[in-house]
Amino acid sequence: MHHLPFTFEIALPAGVPTEYDNHITRSLSSMRGQYADQQAYDAQLAQEDVLLYEVYEICCPESSGELLNGISIVHPGAVGDEYFMTKGHFHAVLETAEVYYCLAGEGYMVMETPEGESSVAELRPGKVLYVPPRWAHRSVNTGAAADLITFFVYPGHAGHDYGSIEKQGFRKLVVARDNRPVIVDNPRWTPPEER
Ligand SMILES: [Fe+2]
Repeated sequence: MHHLPFTFEIALPAGVPTEYDNHITRSLSSMRGQYADQQAYDAQLAQEDVLLYEVYEICCPESSGELLNGISIVHPGAVGDEYFMTKGHFHAVLETAEVYYCLAGEGYMVMETPEGESSVAELRPGKVLYVPPRWAHRSVNTGAAADLITFFVYPGHAGHDYGSIEKQGFRKLVVARDNRPVIVDNPRWTPPEER
């Protein structure tokens, strides 16, 4: 926890900040049910519980005046034809926004509201993305070999709601077709009024 002004650096290409409080790792086994191709998921997990993404958190008190920030690193790869991605979440306090700044790599931020409105934004070095309040968000690495590295900032009291997304995933999927990323409808997704 920091009570005094502080600085840190994000050294590329690794993207690991020189100061951080938490290092969170998520591997394939933590994403059960999240990839559309369940067979490909099972086959891949049987081979190796590969590391999908890492988050370095710079912590501060979880109150509304604070800004939690850190680095997200999504590694390259795919399950079936669906690129490696983060779990994705709403903020527990829905009316809170987030800013992402892409430092390296290429990919997309897949977003949606509780009402089912959907948006997909491209991420590449230098891009700043503003995720407004109420929009769930998931980053997807579409690079062939490089990490997708983003810096994020969001309100200290926002919290995370992973459960809503876990039920059926996002409305849109990012998949490889002829080695190029395409955005397609998620066949498991149903509109909020039909749930
Ligand atoms: Fe967030």
